[in-house]
Amino acid sequence: LDNGLMRTPPMGWLAWERFRCDIDCEDDPQNCISEVLFRDMADRLAEDGWRELGYVYVNIDDCWSSKERDAQGRLQADPKRFPGGIAKLARYVHDRGLKLGIYGDLGTYTCGGYPGTTLDKIEIDAQTFAEWGVDMLKLDGCYSNSTEQEQGYPLMTKALNATGRPIGYSCSWPAYQGGLPPKVNYTLLGEICNLWRNYGDIQDSWDSVLDIVDWFTEHQDILQPAAGPGRWNDPDMLIIGDYGLSMDQSRSQMALWAIMAAPLFMSNDLRTLNSGARAVLQNKVAIAINQDPLGIQGRRLIKEKSGVDVFWRPLSGGSSALVFFSRRTDMPYRYQTSLKALNYTAGTYKMYDVFLEKPMPVLKDATEFVVSINPTGVVM
Ligand code: DGJ
Repeated sequence: LDNGLMRTPPMGWLAWERFRCDIDCEDDPQNCISEVLFRDMADRLAEDGWRELGYVYVNIDDCWSSKERDAQGRLQADPKRFPGGIAKLARYVHDRGLKLGIYGDLGTYTCGGYPGTTLDKIEIDAQTFAEWGVDMLKLDGCYSNSTEQEQGYPLMTKALNATGRPIGYSCSWPAYQGGLPPKVNYTLLGEICNLWRNYGDIQDSWDSVLDIVDWFTEHQDILQPAAGPGRWNDPDMLIIGDYGLSMDQSRSQMALWAIMAAPLFMSNDLRTLNSGARAVLQNKVAIAINQDPLGIQGRRLIKEKSGVDVFWRPLSGGSSALVFFSRRTDMPYRYQTSLKALNYTAGTYKMYDVFLEKPMPVLKDATEFVVSINPTGVVM
């Protein structure tokens, strides 16, 4: 979507995967969906070095609203859990140099059973979000059919534009239509949304990450050309720092999301993040690769019988990124190749190991080299 926003993949934090629909603020005040949680995350993003790296969105997901609209038909935040309201929360977030994202659902209800945005409510909801000072909207698709989605998603683009406030627009539409043509029209999505969820929800497990990576690479010929500045495929949140991934798997998710030019929305607890997860998420070169201004999504080049996949992404300034990914579960695998075998043109190349954070020996295109890839890990 050409609204001047998200010319590189958006980065920040999103509540859903880690905090779900926990509305029990009596017994779980620190983790329930309330203004406390979002202020805490805004504090962490601003004070722990995240904002400077580009992680600027603080995004609310489902279960933020009251069960009823107000007397004027507007959405309203749950008064117990958000006593200050969303506008005040937006000011809090803006005061810290961050942006606020909110969640809506095109349909009768949100997936969690809160008031949805039916077609007749699109304009009023866009207006409400703009008045509150919201910077991004994720529009989910529970409780609507394909005809309503076909009308509603483009109507929301218009309604957001009409508010005059720049609001990034994330569409879950393709995820509700199987993510593939002919049901999904990626040309149209690129015109009406800044990013879109193509596939199912991520869960806190390596299986889930692998399943997502497999789906995205299987369909890369369709998905890869759809992405570019202002329009991104969204394989869903980063779960680095939660419970499901080892350190190697955490590096794998970071590397593969960077190669895929994916939005980097962490869904973790920034208040208790361990230093290993923090180092992976704050890796400057991995972030720079993700944020490359050309905005060309990477692809899988090679799928070896040995269980090694090689991914490649062209970058600005004649650079490129390579990810060697091992699906093996036995021991570190020594993969031998050359840049020539990976389609690089003749010449001498400087290489840098992103997670070891050091240069590798200078190489001629034809020179064979070996990377040692840990089980379920990557060399980038
Ligand atoms: C489905 C979406 O895909 C998730 O990311 C999350 O927003 C939930 N709905 C919330 O109910």
